[in-house]
Amino acid sequence: MLILNLMMRWLHIFSVIAAVGATVFMRWVLLPSLAGLPDEAKDLLLKNLSKRVRILIHSAIGGILLSGLYNTHLLWKSSVFPYGLVYALKVGMALGIFWVAIFLTSSNPKRAAFQANRKKWLAVSLTLAIIVVALSAYLRTLHY
Ligand code: HEM
Repeated sequence: MLILNLMMRWLHIFSVIAAVGATVFMRWVLLPSLAGLPDEAKDLLLKNLSKRVRILIHSAIGGILLSGLYNTHLLWKSSVFPYGLVYALKVGMALGIFWVAIFLTSSNPKRAAFQANRKKWLAVSLTLAIIVVALSAYLRTLHY
């Protein structure tokens, strides 16, 4: 059981690193580097990226949810007030981040208008991720 607990903790942290790291890279490295490129080159680069980014983000969300639910099952019993409140806030914000990530990486043409504002939505996502990581650190202290 100890091995499974460790693996799930690893999966949670690794999936979070992959998803948040990709978001940081896209917002602060990739988007500014597109400036000055001709529209054709920009579109081709984004098209080539999109499938890989979609697979990465969907896999990371799967890993986060699986390990997050396992961690919840494991740690809920030993939690103390206000664990439930902080947990609800964290999971609510995490679902918001997932929603933005799924819309931004969607191949559905209906999401084009949403994706046109990718700079704003990546910033929203990063702000929420910074808060979620802080809430997660706080959760770790709320056990007897
Ligand atoms: C963007 C989404 C998320 C981020 C950035 C995130 C981040 C983190 C981090 C950094 C930790 C601390 C890991 C450790 O030191 O062991 C953690 C722990 C945890 N996460 Fe997440 N998480 C996310 C989503 C979720 C979701 C969706 C769930 C539940 C379904 C969840 C449930 C948990 C639980 C139960 C813990 C253990 C808290 C404790 O020590 O009591 N997380 N998370």
